[in-house]
Amino acid sequence: MNLRTLLTLTAFLLCDAKLPGLKQNIPPNELPSNPTQNAQALRLLQFGSKNEKTKRIADQYAVRHRREVFDSKSYESSLIWAHSERLDENGDVVLRWVNSDSSITFRLEAKTRGYVGLGFNSARNMRGADLVVAWVDDRNGNAQVLDCHGPEFEDRAVADEVQNYELISGYQNDTHTTVEFRRQLDTCDRQDFVIGEDTTQVLWSLGPNGSDGELPKHVKSGSRPLRLLQPLSKPDDSSLMQWDVRLNGLNIPHVMATLFWCKIFKAPDLPKKHHMVGYEPIIDSRPIKNGRPVLEKDSLSPVHHMVLYECADDPDVYVWNEWAKGDGFYGPNRPPEWSICVTPVAAWAMGSKGEFLPENVGIPIGKRGGATFYMLEVHYDNQALHEVLDSSGIRIHYTPQLRAHDAALLGAGIGISALHVIPPKQRHYRTVGICGSECTNTMIPDEGITIVSVLLHAHGTAKKISLKHVRGNEELPRVSEENSYDVRYQQSRIVPGGRKFYKGDTLITECTYDSTSRDKSILGGYSAMQEMCLSFVLYYPRTQLAGCYSMTPAKEFFETFGVKEFYGVNMMQVENIFLSSSYVEYPNLPTDNQRKESEETGMQGDDQGVGFMKELVIKEPPEFRNKTFLAHLNEMPWSEPLLTEQIEKTLYRGMHMTFCKKSDDSWGAPVQIQNYPNFTELTNNDTAEKSCHYKSVRLPSVTKANSATKISMTWSVILAASMQLLIIAR
Ligand SMILES: *[C@@H]1O[C@H](CO)[C@@H](O)[C@H](O)[C@H]1NC(C)=O
Ligand SMILES: *[C@@H]1O[C@H](CO)[C@@H](O)[C@H](O)[C@H]1NC(C)=O
Ligand SMILES: *[C@@H]1O[C@H](CO)[C@@H](O)[C@H](O)[C@H]1NC(C)=O
Ligand SMILES: *[C@@H]1O[C@H](CO)[C@@H](O)[C@H](O)[C@H]1NC(C)=O
Ligand SMILES: *[C@@H]1O[C@H](CO)[C@@H](O)[C@H](O)[C@H]1NC(C)=O
Repeated sequence: MNLRTLLTLTAFLLCDAKLPGLKQNIPPNELPSNPTQNAQALRLLQFGSKNEKTKRIADQYAVRHRREVFDSKSYESSLIWAHSERLDENGDVVLRWVNSDSSITFRLEAKTRGYVGLGFNSARNMRGADLVVAWVDDRNGNAQVLDCHGPEFEDRAVADEVQNYELISGYQNDTHTTVEFRRQLDTCDRQDFVIGEDTTQVLWSLGPNGSDGELPKHVKSGSRPLRLLQPLSKPDDSSLMQWDVRLNGLNIPHVMATLFWCKIFKAPDLPKKHHMVGYEPIIDSRPIKNGRPVLEKDSLSPVHHMVLYECADDPDVYVWNEWAKGDGFYGPNRPPEWSICVTPVAAWAMGSKGEFLPENVGIPIGKRGGATFYMLEVHYDNQALHEVLDSSGIRIHYTPQLRAHDAALLGAGIGISALHVIPPKQRHYRTVGICGSECTNTMIPDEGITIVSVLLHAHGTAKKISLKHVRGNEELPRVSEENSYDVRYQQSRIVPGGRKFYKGDTLITECTYDSTSRDKSILGGYSAMQEMCLSFVLYYPRTQLAGCYSMTPAKEFFETFGVKEFYGVNMMQVENIFLSSSYVEYPNLPTDNQRKESEETGMQGDDQGVGFMKELVIKEPPEFRNKTFLAHLNEMPWSEPLLTEQIEKTLYRGMHMTFCKKSDDSWGAPVQIQNYPNFTELTNNDTAEKSCHYKSVRLPSVTKANSATKISMTWSVILAASMQLLIIAR
């Protein structure tokens, strides 16, 4: 941090607060267009390859940070912004940023001539948030930033004791305020948020016109989840071609809150192997209002996630061609032949703008390498029960310029079924899915595979997801980890440098849920009200392994909840019912009764064996006799921590039934029941190794106050209700 800059900045703040009469009436800055720099930056963006671009960003950093003189009128920096996001739907607030290993520089363009507030938090509110407020003074055109924070238990903002944001430049035109500023990723200041790899809730607020220095209540505010340190991914590659895999006006009935739709697509006719290198979502959902379809904003679409699967070869091309011409099927009703479509090639979930693969890998498509047919599976979460005309799908980007390696996706985690239970009212409840050594021993080649990126996926109550890697008796560093999961924002995470994974290694997907907002147990399933715990692992070279999941065996599962026997079925039969594809892989078509019920109760996703849980009537032990299992589950004393801890531990550390699926839907290893593997867990040493060399400038303390500093300390920054930003300057 540049000391001189800060002192200058502090002086500005003090002067402004103290001398409101000092009106110099300097007209607002006119923006010189700075054509040279812009043109240069543009050229770099257009013609530089990604590597050059990345290097440029690193270089500009080295130069930029030697800047010594603070000059608020040098509004156009020559920085190339690696990222650019609209924080609101209208684009009234645009955030651009670029980071180095230790610091991050922002450019904030906001449609106001007053102040603009930006914040970082792990929650979607300002309690305990790191906040920064910036504005350009209408009187003299000087830009200013103020580092603030939200107290733990109050919705207001207070100026930090230590100012960790450094203003680079700022200006305003007739409509917008634009400021550039930077900070360290970790400022070593407890009043600031550490910007790291996890998902961050980025908060924003806009002040009314003219609110410079004395900052009244905001006019607008909001939040958006983002991962700020995500590496660049979209290549500037003009050789890219597109294949749109989308439904064609599917009519979604208003009676189903959860709908899985599957449709077959034929790959573009390519004479040689190409590589798929990325995809973007195509969201086109039109609710029927007054009998007419109305196109709505993406954020209101019921499309919850989409997966494109490659289908293994089937000699009966004629029938597959016919399917490719059809509209598709409701998941459970799809033809059984479609079960050979198991290898995921693209997995999109809401909040993602799409993905581009790392530069050294591509997924084969076209003759000699790719498949002929693909299956798109779209999950609609239509809790509002609208009738919708939907033509959503995925745009695949592919290229004839082959990458170094053929990659493939592997699904891992917990098999989707009602045997995955999260009790209500738990703050940190953990479940795990294992991809064990029996499977990797047979399916992974001797030279191993390299994992390049991971998409972690669960639903709304998940708070953390991590993908663990065990070799022998040792846990290796996490392959990927998200400690602040937000279901509204799912992007895959690059594994820096790749991770070598060998025969016999184990992958463990661990999910931690916060179910404090729920009154009943959450069961595993496809509906957004149910839960999942999955990782989609991108790796090379391709193998036959497509899916590697586990679940608790039925006998152990029910015994954990104190149940020994049901009327009419034995545990083997119960297990087989869960294993049969209708429960483990696809939701059951709701029966008329359930449908009526879900209409009456305003719909809770009721499938994946939940209905079956209601039909199982307990015979043994006598104290639970004649209750259904679901009723029993709902009556357990979940507020007893000893009970829930015991259940969590038994299911986590106990038996796991593992499934090892190949891309043609055959088994890579027999279904087995295994113990939780025995290994030394990684200790969480993050906090210990933090090195805080960074020093910042303290605002002068009150005790030594002269009249000027006193004013600075009464910068009590008040936020009324959540996110209402009000700053009072005296
Ligand atoms: C004002 O600045 C904003 C943000 O830089 C820009 O988008 C907008 O076009 C500018 N308006 C005018 C009239 O120059
Ligand atoms: C601020 O001023 C601009 C231009 O005069 C106007 O379009 C805009 O609506 C004003 N915003 C507010 C919040 O008053
Ligand atoms: C359970 O139900 C059976 C048959 O419906 C009945 O004979 C039996 O008495 C019931 N037992 C208890 C404990 O309610
Ligand atoms: C787990 O491994 C450790 C060290 O290798 C060993 O001491 C311990 O007995 C093992 N526990 C089980 C249950 O196998
Ligand atoms: C954890 O950190 C301490 C102190 O930095 C160090 O001595 C210890 O070796 C670390 N442990 C692990 C497992 O990395």
